[in-house]
Amino acid sequence: MRTKIAGIGKYLPSRVVTNEELTHYMDTSNEWIIERTGIEERRYAERHTETPTTMAANAAKIAIERAGITAEDLDFIIFATLSPDYYFPGCGVLLQRELGITKTEIGALDIRNQCTGFVYGLSIADQFIKSGMYKNILLVGAEKHSMGLDYSDEGRQVTVIFGDGAGAVVLQPTDKEGQGVINTVLHSDGTHAEELAMINPGSHSGYHLGTEKFGYPNDDKDGGLFVTQKMVDDNMLVPNMTGQLVFKTAVVKFPEVIKEGLEKAGLKKEDIDMLVPHQANLRISQFVQKVMGLPDEKIVNNIQKYGNTTAASIPIALCEAWENGRIKDGDLVCLAAFGSGFTWGSALLHW
Ligand code: UT7
Repeated sequence: MRTKIAGIGKYLPSRVVTNEELTHYMDTSNEWIIERTGIEERRYAERHTETPTTMAANAAKIAIERAGITAEDLDFIIFATLSPDYYFPGCGVLLQRELGITKTEIGALDIRNQCTGFVYGLSIADQFIKSGMYKNILLVGAEKHSMGLDYSDEGRQVTVIFGDGAGAVVLQPTDKEGQGVINTVLHSDGTHAEELAMINPGSHSGYHLGTEKFGYPNDDKDGGLFVTQKMVDDNMLVPNMTGQLVFKTAVVKFPEVIKEGLEKAGLKKEDIDMLVPHQANLRISQFVQKVMGLPDEKIVNNIQKYGNTTAASIPIALCEAWENGRIKDGDLVCLAAFGSGFTWGSALLHW
């Protein structure tokens, strides 16, 4: 028994934010952003009415319909995001409610693996399906980055990259020859955890980091507050990234983990019909394409339109490629991701 993608859907908010618009908020330029990242525009969610959960529900409804089931048929939800609606509870149960699922014979799991969230989620779902425990799993990746970014000059390196959106798949068992997930490969290395991170708000005191950069939220004078005035005043409630370290590590780990998956499956890189990399930076994807020796028609790049949507980027790109007829039944599809953690991984599947 293998795991197949029975239905897929995506949702992108309607508001298009061009590079030119960002130049109104910070010292950047269309030329710089295109040259360094390939991004031309991204989408931002509607500030008051759209959340990762509502966007996920929009994508999920399409995936559920395409799978030929109803929301009530789902027996498990896996939600990957780094920008959840609430600190807790996670978005899994919120999505259950948003989809109108009232039965309680269902589980909801939230995973926090950032850019690798979809690959990690697929691996988890695959184990549940292969063990026979579940038959209809909804896996989503959704992000609303636009509310958590630093729009000052200080944040420009990070802010120009990210966009909002959601992608979803319904996973089911299949015994059809030549269909389904072949393998997933997962890796992590916590050595560089703070190099691509949003440290605050958090339950740390800041002291262990040995620097004032990330604040001292639990100083006695703050009474152990989670968010302090100092954090607000010193602009500490934003993500930070050592861009070049992430870039240099990503271009090594992407090809490595793709080759590892191929080797384990006894396949060659020439066997890949479509590579769907996490949309981190067009230059990273182009580098990976070159190392893997793949022609343009065998790789999906849509970061130009949507920016980096973290956990949502792979299901959005996969969905778009399938909707455009670029992925057909039986095709060997490779998913690969690298990001915050650092975590990285790959998945090989026959469509
Ligand atoms: O999803 C996975 C997570 N993220 C990634 O995979 C991102 C990986 N890293 C990257 O994609 C790249 O490192 C960035 C696109 C983030 C940055 O590109 P870079 O070529 O590494 O630029 P840099 O950070 O080395 O900065 C080069 C210059 C600096 O100016 P000086 O010091 O040379 O005068 C920056 O201050 O570019 C400046 N800069 C900008 N200029 C205009 C940084 N951000 C901007 C900006 N607009 N937005």
